[in-house]
Amino acid sequence: MFNLFKKVKKDLGSGESFPVTTDMHSHILPGIDDGSPDIATSIKLVKGLYDLGYRRLVATPHIIGDLYRNNPVIINRELERLKNACAEAGIDIELSAAAEYMLDDYFLQILKQKDQILPVYQNLILTELLYTVMPMNVNEIVFEIITAGYKPILAHPERYFYYHRDFDEYFRLKELGFLLQVNLLSLTGYYGPPVAKAAKFIFENGLADFVGTDMHHLRHLETLSSKETNIVLNKYLRGKGFNNF
Ligand SMILES: [Fe+2]
Repeated sequence: MFNLFKKVKKDLGSGESFPVTTDMHSHILPGIDDGSPDIATSIKLVKGLYDLGYRRLVATPHIIGDLYRNNPVIINRELERLKNACAEAGIDIELSAAAEYMLDDYFLQILKQKDQILPVYQNLILTELLYTVMPMNVNEIVFEIITAGYKPILAHPERYFYYHRDFDEYFRLKELGFLLQVNLLSLTGYYGPPVAKAAKFIFENGLADFVGTDMHHLRHLETLSSKETNIVLNKYLRGKGFNNF
């Protein structure tokens, strides 16, 4: 079952260990969003992350009004399933769950109704925007989030194409109240050169607060596990203490 990972470990060989041990953004819960489709895949993803050096994972399935109306009951049910399967497979890793909230009308509804929100840690909630259409009311939503007592983390700011026209937007997002979470694979060019350029800008200007795998499938794991990836990630992350929460 785990042959893939034996191969990955052997091929890593950059001479450096993986520079992060806690992940706070992944789609490893089975069958509830566009991430892992089933428990067998979830176990492979968790085992792969464990083999890389991760010891704590926060699963963050999408909550998107038009697509994935996940809620704490569904998410915690799948978390328990995954915890049990990991225990059976002998993978000693700390698992918890939050969500990746699309900042849409559905999210505003959840917030205004005071429905239970799942934070990544304490009052930190992981949020995302549409990739292609710049949100008109992001200032208003951030205000609502902060007023409700939460602090928003913006997932993968480097992947929103409308911010590529003017990198000063990243400073504005921070001023607005967002913490920024860069995807590890963005730094390697996995999502293309413009995303890599934006990710490097965010790092080089000290704007990155968190990093995440945003793990959806085995291809992500394979790329994350390569020697080339490890060299790039160590260049940006070694000794910086990312995700020490
Ligand atoms: Fe995600």
